Amino acid sequence: MDRDSIAFLPESLVLSVEEIDRQHGALFSLLADIKAACLRSNALPPELAAGLIDFLHEHFRTEERLAALAGYNFAVHDRKHLEMVSAIEKGLSEVVTEAQDVFSVLRYVEYWFERHIAEEDRPLGAFLRRTVR
Ligand SMILES: [Fe+2]
Ligand SMILES: [Fe+2]
Repeated sequence: MDRDSIAFLPESLVLSVEEIDRQHGALFSLLADIKAACLRSNALPPELAAGLIDFLHEHFRTEERLAALAGYNFAVHDRKHLEMVSAIEKGLSEVVTEAQDVFSVLRYVEYWFERHIAEEDRPLGAFLRRTVR
């Protein structure tokens, strides 16, 4: 696990699946970078917003690959990913058009990460730990 990003992953959200935990840590780290950049400039740097969306897609592909390898039914989980990335993209695009406050959107993204890991990723992690050696 990346030493820098693991510090950003709350202990209660560690799933003990190294590849997923590393990416979750990196997502929280990226979110912290975005918040810091927004505090400095009071604007959302478009390259960081695009980087967050790109990394989310990469992370979702990782979970989909691990689920498929383990024979885990990923249909509902996949739908949650698609719904949320669409909501996050909409929120970030509304920040650009000033329809939404960037810090409200970032709080929502962080809340979603935590809730999704606790509710959808945790059962996937438990299944992977049971079935993959
Ligand atoms: Fe995840
Ligand atoms: Fe997930």
